[in-house]
Amino acid sequence: MADCDVVIAGGTVVTPSDMFTADVGITGGRVAVLGLNLRGQRTIDAKGLLVMPGGVDSHCHIEQLQAGGGADEESFVTGSTSALAGGTTSVVTFSTQFKGQGILAPFAEYRRRAERAMVDYAFHQIVTDATDDVVFNEIPQVAAAGVRSLKAFLTYDPLYLDDRQFIRVLAAARRNQMLVTVHCENYEAINWRTAALLADGRTAPKYHAWSRPPMVEREATHRAIALAEMVDQPIQVFHVSCPEVADEIARAKARGLKVWGETCPQYFVLSADHMDRPGFEGAKFMCSPAPRDAAASEGLWTCIRNGVLDIVSSDHSGFSCETPVGKRANGADAPFRDIPNGVPGLQSRLPILFHEAVTKGRMDPCHFVRLTSANPARLFGLYPRKGTIVPGGDADIVLWDPKKTVTLTNTLMQHIIDYTPYEGMQVTGWPVMTLRRGEVVMRDGKVQAQPGSGQYLARAPYDLIKPTGNVPNGFDASAFLV
Ligand code: URP
Ligand code: ZN
Ligand code: ZN
Repeated sequence: MADCDVVIAGGTVVTPSDMFTADVGITGGRVAVLGLNLRGQRTIDAKGLLVMPGGVDSHCHIEQLQAGGGADEESFVTGSTSALAGGTTSVVTFSTQFKGQGILAPFAEYRRRAERAMVDYAFHQIVTDATDDVVFNEIPQVAAAGVRSLKAFLTYDPLYLDDRQFIRVLAAARRNQMLVTVHCENYEAINWRTAALLADGRTAPKYHAWSRPPMVEREATHRAIALAEMVDQPIQVFHVSCPEVADEIARAKARGLKVWGETCPQYFVLSADHMDRPGFEGAKFMCSPAPRDAAASEGLWTCIRNGVLDIVSSDHSGFSCETPVGKRANGADAPFRDIPNGVPGLQSRLPILFHEAVTKGRMDPCHFVRLTSANPARLFGLYPRKGTIVPGGDADIVLWDPKKTVTLTNTLMQHIIDYTPYEGMQVTGWPVMTLRRGEVVMRDGKVQAQPGSGQYLARAPYDLIKPTGNVPNGFDASAFLV
């Protein structure tokens, strides 16, 4: 057999289903062969290391445009750098619509900005204003441009959709063979509790969690599922924070609905107590839904084990603590309502999850690969090009030292954000080399990719997200442009 360009030799290959000792031969940026004693023009010694598919982070906010102009601090270059340093080689990030505007112009702007990416990337299109032009004219155009997922917010001013608008987004997705991802929290309930908390002088970051208790998330999840069932449109519920929300997804799955659930590392290792730190410190842990408590975190592991939650993404958000555009944008005394939500995690996602899941013995490395790479690639139409190690697939590979212990600190994180909520946390299991399409792009923490070397992942229609065909009374209302 002819020599491969590169051989990764002697490691333990981990796929979504199996773990075995093999060499991985790479030619032309793709996996060419798995075998023993392969020959390559270049050999990378992987003895003692796990050879896993590069991470696929299907929920991260990078260089997101802001309503008042400008963009999040995390650029496609810095975001890619931290992703590659953490073993992630593909992301699905967002293109955002602002109310009163269309989606084509921002989508073009995101495509332009993302040309500097160093990871491969796809987009979810956020819809905040489901006008006739957006749902009947523009959504088909972004679908044709390779966007196969829409995101709907059921809360947040000025992003949220009321039920009628949400139904129109579900119907547009059904007509255009797209998935709908949903941020599930009840807008009115949060506003009502927030008004009461502020009226009572409870403004500190810890009251962020009080403003949005689990039933607020559970109700919106239930509603999103019911409306998706009525339209017969597959959905994924983003960032599930606790088992009682996952129970809604479990019931939907048991009824045969195409409903998937995602969670994030913050819901395993952070809790509402972190937001109760003195002064402004608690703001560093504010995200939505809010982290809950230890019992909720433990319960989420059960939901992972029994397959109700199938993806762990980062929900990386670009807000520093000290910069004028970050968490302190509205001052150090800003009430929790006015502090930007979100925590960084592109780089720490895989190490934290590996430590909590594999090192602590909760699951095997194959399950880890499913949660962080294969399942997101499948659900978002990128598999098996991404998400596994298979001949013909892209050679996106992370070499992982399962014995290496590292203390997480922001100086190690290569994002632009000026803090990590995981400062001081010790993890065992660490990425030591990342290859993206066969090219070594990170070695021992040093990222060596060129801005612009990431590729846009245009997604074609795929079977997993096809509707089931079961509509109430056999009447498909989504066929009508209403
Ligand atoms: O608090 C969060 N999760 N911020 C990011 C935006 C979102 O809701 O996904
Ligand atoms: Zn969200
Ligand atoms: Zn998000």
